[in-house]
Amino acid sequence: MADSPSHPFLQGLSKHRGAPPTVVVIFGASGDLCARKLIPAIYNLGADGLLPAEFSLIGFARKPIPDDEFRKLAHAGITEFSRRAPTPEVWDRLAPNVTYVSGGYDEKAAFDRLAEKITGIEKKLGREVQTVFYVSTPPNVFSSILVNLGSSGLASKYLGQPHQSKVIVEKPFGKDLETAKALNKTINSVFAEPQVYRIDHYLGKETVQDLLVQRFSNSIFEPLWNRDFIDNVQITVAEEVGVGTRGGYYEQSGATRDMIQNHTMQLLALTAMEPPSSLDAEAIRDEKVKVLKAIQPLTVGPHGDVARAQYSAGLMGGKPVKGYLEEEGINPQSGTETYSAIRLAINNWRWQGVPFYLRSGKRMARRVSEIAINYKRPPGTLFAGEGAKFDLAANTLAFQIQPDEGLSLVFNTKIPGLETRTQPVKMSFRYAATFGSNTAEAYERLILDCMIGDGTLFIRGDETEASWKIYTPVIDYWRSVGRAGMDSYAAGSWGPPNSDALLAQRKRRWREP
Ligand code: BG6
Repeated sequence: MADSPSHPFLQGLSKHRGAPPTVVVIFGASGDLCARKLIPAIYNLGADGLLPAEFSLIGFARKPIPDDEFRKLAHAGITEFSRRAPTPEVWDRLAPNVTYVSGGYDEKAAFDRLAEKITGIEKKLGREVQTVFYVSTPPNVFSSILVNLGSSGLASKYLGQPHQSKVIVEKPFGKDLETAKALNKTINSVFAEPQVYRIDHYLGKETVQDLLVQRFSNSIFEPLWNRDFIDNVQITVAEEVGVGTRGGYYEQSGATRDMIQNHTMQLLALTAMEPPSSLDAEAIRDEKVKVLKAIQPLTVGPHGDVARAQYSAGLMGGKPVKGYLEEEGINPQSGTETYSAIRLAINNWRWQGVPFYLRSGKRMARRVSEIAINYKRPPGTLFAGEGAKFDLAANTLAFQIQPDEGLSLVFNTKIPGLETRTQPVKMSFRYAATFGSNTAEAYERLILDCMIGDGTLFIRGDETEASWKIYTPVIDYWRSVGRAGMDSYAAGSWGPPNSDALLAQRKRRWREP
């Protein structure tokens, strides 16, 4: 097998969306994300004919790994984690173009070696190649990588041209407003903003992209998408998993930083934004930033807008599991929340007076992410009273992001029979039933979009700061009060009492997805 990448990938079979010849460099190539998500995503893009004909992958990490060994690791990652098993037809074409560079992230010479390697690929192909740098390392080395990409000239390569270098930055994007601003400053001292792709993998999920299509391509939704008809919006990202082996990371993070500030806020922005003037990346991101900026500051403390809790021991699928404080690597006095619920008010013409409730937790009853639009109750004049005869529900339109992706509408209907009795029923659309279930993973779409230069599904610098601005006072407050106000919920349940109380204050209840 040749050592340097030279083999045009799937020549003749490629039906890609126009990505130029590309080298993807993954920093943190010996890590978990690379094996589980990034390499399988690249493999599947290849299998679907979506990689450019001249494509190379370079893994970069501190650990010395020979090229052949790295290829074996990549193949093992695909075998274990890809939505498709590797076939020789695809793998044998990709493998010769997979190589590895070892070096310290603060070692300038290692970046010079990387630059030489990329130049070598260009010489072999006889043409210029765009480079996509994927920074998937722990955040403490982000800055070193960025600085070295600058000083080695790799960041500014072909600047201003469509095949200019691009950088994908993984989360966590800072840990509060100040650190996010500092990180943006470092990034923008090396890369121009159009070269920067801040990733939130929720934006790559098929159903999240479809939210824009469903909202803006169906005339029945938009007229009812406002404070005149909607009572409240509930966004839930519930997980069954606990912290597992990630205790060290999670203790510094917690549900608000890990899930609420990024993933659920992205879902909120797409749900609440105004229709953009076009599908252009900047038009969409401008509207997202506008709605984030219209969110009112959160009130902390008793009866405020936030609730937090930790899971205690409980049952998951009938099996006993530990509480958070007993998990490996967790301080038994920890003040880190595994569940967070937030009430947000958006102060604009469309949403004033409509509470948006967000919640996310680990070790909850069921893995489910959904956006539920709860409509106002109809005037109760006709079908009211008389006890059990009329079981009227408010209408709910629920976008189920995962699993069992789809859309459902709850409405009231008459139970067949000689007397008039009502019952709420659910009408559902399921992606799997209509389109089959082998859809692309979020990372496939996002890596492809970056190669093409489409930043629509990535987060702009001002967007990260607008979101951190909302949550930094909450995080600071919680840090200052230790464990005060920390509730608990049994593993396998739907969350703590303080989160139910947050809704009860305004006479609402969480929907059970
Ligand atoms: C990550 C968080 O961003 O998202 C994890 O760090 C979480 O804690 C994961 O488990 C959830 O992603 P998904 O795609 O499985 O919903």
